[in-house]
Amino acid sequence: MPSVDIVQEVDTLREQLDAWNYQYYVLDQPTVPDAEYDRCMYRLLQLEASRPELVRPDSPTQRVGAAPLAQFSQISHEVPMLSLDNAFDAQAMRDFNRRLLDRLGGNPDQLEFACEPKLDGIAVSLLYRDGLLQRGATRGDGTTGEDITLNVRTIPSIPLHLRGDNFPGLLEVRGEIYMPSAGFEQLNARVRERGDKTFVNPRNAAAGSLRQLDARVTAQRPLEMCCYGVGLVEGGVLPDRHALVLESLQAWGLRINAELAVVHGIDACDDYYEALAARRESLPYAIDGIVFKVNDLALQQRLGFVSRAPRWAIARKFPAQEEMTRLLDVEFQVGRTGAITPVARLEPVFVGGVTVSNATLHNSDEIERLGVQIGDTVIVRRAGDVIPQVVSVVMGRRPADARPVSFPDSCPVCGSAVEREAGEATLRCMGGLVCAAQQKAAIKHFASRRAMDIEGLGDKLVDQLVDEGLLENVAGLYTLERERLLGLERMGEKSADNLLLALEQSKQTTLPRFIFALGIREVGEVTALSLARHFGSWEALSMVREEQLLEVDDVGPVVADHLVQFFDSPSSMGMVGTLREAGVNWPDLELAPVEDLPLAGQTWVVTGKLEALGRNDAKGHLQALGAKVAGSVSARTSCVVAGFGAGSKLTRAGELGVKVLDERAFLALLADNGVMI
Ligand code: IVH
Repeated sequence: MPSVDIVQEVDTLREQLDAWNYQYYVLDQPTVPDAEYDRCMYRLLQLEASRPELVRPDSPTQRVGAAPLAQFSQISHEVPMLSLDNAFDAQAMRDFNRRLLDRLGGNPDQLEFACEPKLDGIAVSLLYRDGLLQRGATRGDGTTGEDITLNVRTIPSIPLHLRGDNFPGLLEVRGEIYMPSAGFEQLNARVRERGDKTFVNPRNAAAGSLRQLDARVTAQRPLEMCCYGVGLVEGGVLPDRHALVLESLQAWGLRINAELAVVHGIDACDDYYEALAARRESLPYAIDGIVFKVNDLALQQRLGFVSRAPRWAIARKFPAQEEMTRLLDVEFQVGRTGAITPVARLEPVFVGGVTVSNATLHNSDEIERLGVQIGDTVIVRRAGDVIPQVVSVVMGRRPADARPVSFPDSCPVCGSAVEREAGEATLRCMGGLVCAAQQKAAIKHFASRRAMDIEGLGDKLVDQLVDEGLLENVAGLYTLERERLLGLERMGEKSADNLLLALEQSKQTTLPRFIFALGIREVGEVTALSLARHFGSWEALSMVREEQLLEVDDVGPVVADHLVQFFDSPSSMGMVGTLREAGVNWPDLELAPVEDLPLAGQTWVVTGKLEALGRNDAKGHLQALGAKVAGSVSARTSCVVAGFGAGSKLTRAGELGVKVLDERAFLALLADNGVMI
């Protein structure tokens, strides 16, 4: 007999670990450092190893996976696992509502709906008998599925036993097993490193990870479960509303979706749909629509189902983010730094809510990876505001006359030689500022709002000025003559005068804007700001050598090298000279010793998605103001900037009483310190 002390300690450790798991996976509120969790787990493993008779199948230690199976056995679902009807627009939602009201009667504004994201994963059923996880199964064809008990046992958000004591004796829980986006990216990075084929999307990765005969493989994969309903229930009573049933599941230790909401009437369903669609990209998992369910279970009963879908629920799908189309041709665009980018010309296709006829192909490595040829049928993806991408080729549909993509051996715009730098996938035009494409891009960048901010000098006008031979580079901007401008097509007196006035006004600028406007490779806005603050004046900056540049926050060897090349180039420095002679000027910056910077000595954390600027830019600005930027929140954190969808770090800040700024307040703070976004 093990001593009472050990039995007690094992119990306490299990309770503690279960509670931490619940807080972490179900409530999304991590409460304990990893190291502490690991220490307890290790202690429990040790005790169980020394007293094997104490091991129980539902101990937190029993999740590592078992020896491989020869095959999955089949199980039958006593209550069939249904699928859902789809709606693709607001009208289809009205039709759904009409059908409900025709059957139920009553006031259209009164009907209560539970709204939940439609997770893109694999439907599964979990069977708990007397609170113990007894079986996990796939949906299969809805009637017969596969027994994946060993696999589901490895998923940390699936409890091996339920919490509390008021659950039904027999409880079948249903939900989706999915792979969160971050886990998907990490898994694909690992797979890529090994040289294996990557997973196309999180759904495929989840399916492939779950249906593993060797559950030890499943245990290595970042899977999660989110519950959305129940099947068989015996020996207990559940609440009479769907959303309350889900809340009971949560209390018993099962994870449900944090976005679950109850609304009244179909218009409110539209509002929920729109609101979540806008946040779709910032959710930590992929969803392909929203599921709306009549919340009242008695009404659900009355409505019943047709063929394989319930009448009381509908999935409003988002416009597909991936569609098939044909690659008509590949053209080559020359960017500001001479980089030549292959652009896919596509048969127009409606995807992600817009019609797409071009997509970037990035570079030759990407074309090789895709194995794409002109004439191929391709899958195009457009998610959120991200530029459209060609994600794969449907090889089975390659036509006989498909032809490989051939890269140009001279610049398609100026005919200059092209080169590929060692170790780089990007082909570059060597024409520099002789190349009209580079001239145009450099001028557009110089004039842009965050650089010299020359109002009225839009992209079209720059194209026109360069094409007509009025302008070759930015230095020519300040010598543009009114008469010659008036000779341009569609240029009236008023526009010409406005442009000249804007040019005149742009001469008074700031050092960071000027450095950024020069378009030196890899020198973005944040780097420009760091350089300006570090050196204070153009004179000081342009005299420095590589070692001094490397002392600047966010300047690495590559950036330093580009800067030195710029300072060493007579034509580049000549251009700066011409600009200054034309009257471009700025005040030098006071060199603040580091300890005098406004945020010196402070540690900041940036979390969630920021709308106006990327997280990296936010970090750069903070560093330029003297703050350290850390990855996790502790009692020593001075302030947390929390963007959209901020999660555990924000919660942690709340617990520790750390100050939190939302994006608006953060932008205001930057503005107070002279950084305008
Ligand atoms: S309810 C009787 N709720 O969508 C209702 N399904 O197209 C059955 N799904 O097989 C499903 N999220 O795999 C429901 N919140 C959610 C869901 C959801 C994802 C999946 C599920 C189902 C498929 C139906």
